[in-house]
Amino acid sequence: MDKILLWSLLLIFSGSQASRPLAQRNIEFAVDLYQAICLSHKNNIIFSPLGTTLGLGMVQLGAKGKAQQQIRQTLKLQETSAGEEFSVLKSFFSAISEKKQEFTFNLANALYLQEGFTVKEQYLHSNKEFFQSAIKLVDFQDAKTSAETISTWVESKTDGKIKDMFSGEDFGPLTRLILVNAVYFKGDWKQKFTKENTQLMNFTKKDGAAVKIPMMKALVRTKYGYFSGSSMNYQVLELPYKGDEFSLIIVLPAEDVNIEEMEKQITAHQILKWFSEMQEEEVEVSLPRFQVEQKLDFKEALYSLNITEIFSGGCDLSGITDSAEVFISQVMQHVFFEINEDGSEAATSAGMHIPVIMSLAQNQFIANHPFLFIVKNNPTESILFMGRVTNPDTQKMKGRDLDSL
Ligand SMILES: *[C@@H]1O[C@H](CO)[C@@H](O)[C@H](O)[C@H]1NC(C)=O
Ligand SMILES: *[C@@H]1O[C@H](CO)[C@@H](O)[C@H](O)[C@H]1NC(C)=O
Repeated sequence: MDKILLWSLLLIFSGSQASRPLAQRNIEFAVDLYQAICLSHKNNIIFSPLGTTLGLGMVQLGAKGKAQQQIRQTLKLQETSAGEEFSVLKSFFSAISEKKQEFTFNLANALYLQEGFTVKEQYLHSNKEFFQSAIKLVDFQDAKTSAETISTWVESKTDGKIKDMFSGEDFGPLTRLILVNAVYFKGDWKQKFTKENTQLMNFTKKDGAAVKIPMMKALVRTKYGYFSGSSMNYQVLELPYKGDEFSLIIVLPAEDVNIEEMEKQITAHQILKWFSEMQEEEVEVSLPRFQVEQKLDFKEALYSLNITEIFSGGCDLSGITDSAEVFISQVMQHVFFEINEDGSEAATSAGMHIPVIMSLAQNQFIANHPFLFIVKNNPTESILFMGRVTNPDTQKMKGRDLDSL
């Protein structure tokens, strides 16, 4: 029995010249997936909806029958003709490469094949066309060496942020094919926070306990909205990255609202409403400096979204290979995400700093309790990252970040 491992590894991701309905369907899938992940995760969450779409898209391209139908249904691609669905990704790839000077964006896909194993020519060709994936040969029988080879590739594509993604134990004698995608994004804020204004403050975790965290502060003029619905109130804030191509959206429930109650009610329609209804306003922002790193296995979440067939022996992946018993054994995603004064990752370039005159602001946005966040590509409204912060106090922060205060 041959196995396909699907490894999807991500840092940060982004969108394209998509038509609006397709963008909405992508957001619907992102929300479904978020809610499925929440069922089995109690604390911080970070994942890349777009990265998952990409990984599933690569499988769908070679799947037939029920295996293909389930993916298309879950990705809401039923109304899209086959072949057309990934044209969005294609135009995204080209759009994004035109604006490279404003941010660092690296999206790399690779298929690692067992030496001597045959994958259909057409599949390799389509992968190259739609996903710009590279095809590489390794010998999984030498598990340790292939793990090192692939980990080194991942590390180089993620600016060293994700090391040792694989170990020899990840590959068995039956491993034949691995799909990997590495996404790395680094952007500076359009308006940076001033480091001197960052202070230690209490953050009240979901369980009510307080933890001291570095809180960045700034007075900004940016898109902001106060929303209420189903007896819950919340604020939404948009912080654009330099170049205006990407933005961070933060959704902060009122203090008396349980974040889990709020999550259950989020819909794609609502998210699009936030995007369109937020208005430029002056806002006093307090936002934790934080890092979230997570390696997630999506199998369970995808199962609950009706993608089951690709995980069972006998599924039809004949577009990939003629070998009979081929199925997916794992879908892993590894994301590293960091928010600091400069932007999404430590950067040394000097930027325009904004004054902090806190007392004059009408609106206060104080993220000192659990919140949700979304990183989106603005022209396409694609969601690169989605997650929540229930406790920004990670071990890593204690050393470097707190010492620097
Ligand atoms: C911060 O939390 C600690 C522990 O719960 C509490 O003793 C302290 O009073 C809090 N500080 C502020 C400024 O609220
Ligand atoms: C999964 O399939 C069942 C039965 O066809 C359907 O009722 C349910 O709505 C589907 N769930 C999702 C998330 O598509």
